[in-house]
Amino acid sequence: MSRSVRDYVRSIHDFPHEGIIFRDVTTLFADARGFRMAVDQILHAYAGMRIDKVVGLEARGFILGGAVAHQLSTGFVPIRKKGKLPGTVISEAYTLEYGEAIMEIHDDALRPGEKVLIVDDLLATGGTAAASIKLCQRLGAEVLGCAFVIDLPDLGGRALLEGMDMPVHALCAFE
Ligand code: PRP
Ligand code: HPA
Repeated sequence: MSRSVRDYVRSIHDFPHEGIIFRDVTTLFADARGFRMAVDQILHAYAGMRIDKVVGLEARGFILGGAVAHQLSTGFVPIRKKGKLPGTVISEAYTLEYGEAIMEIHDDALRPGEKVLIVDDLLATGGTAAASIKLCQRLGAEVLGCAFVIDLPDLGGRALLEGMDMPVHALCAFE
């Protein structure tokens, strides 16, 4: 039987901490068929919709989002962790297991009314994506949806985003 996107994801036990199974998309991205399959499946989910910009989340969302933007012939906008973007930014803090993190976007990266698709490799608690949705919305953009390769449904991210009225599309899930 032919391999699905999920089959290309490598699981690494005890990374970054003991007891965690890290779902590693580098094996998916490294495989020509796997990478194309993932990008094509994201494109298929949004076929026929007007998308003005693809927004990718640091770091693996840059790889995927860049490929999606190229295929859609749209621009690509990065959302990065605090302190990495050189221009004037707006920031959103979000909660991690221990402490807080901050995501940033250039304040001129999106225009009011632009329709954007947010892309990342993985949805866990949803904190990263929720902060990113808020950043796009604060610039006046309309976020059409969030696309991920992997959903970890036990961590509640999908429920959090859907509670913000945000459509979520994930190519596969790991319990
Ligand atoms: C991972 C993943 C998502 C985020 C998901 O990135 O690539 O961006 O965590 O977690 P959440 O849904 O609980 O917010 P990470 O923070 O490890 O950053 P990196 O890609 O820069 O390594
Ligand atoms: N893989 C990549 N990023 C992550 C994971 C994972 O399993 N869990 C939380 N962020």
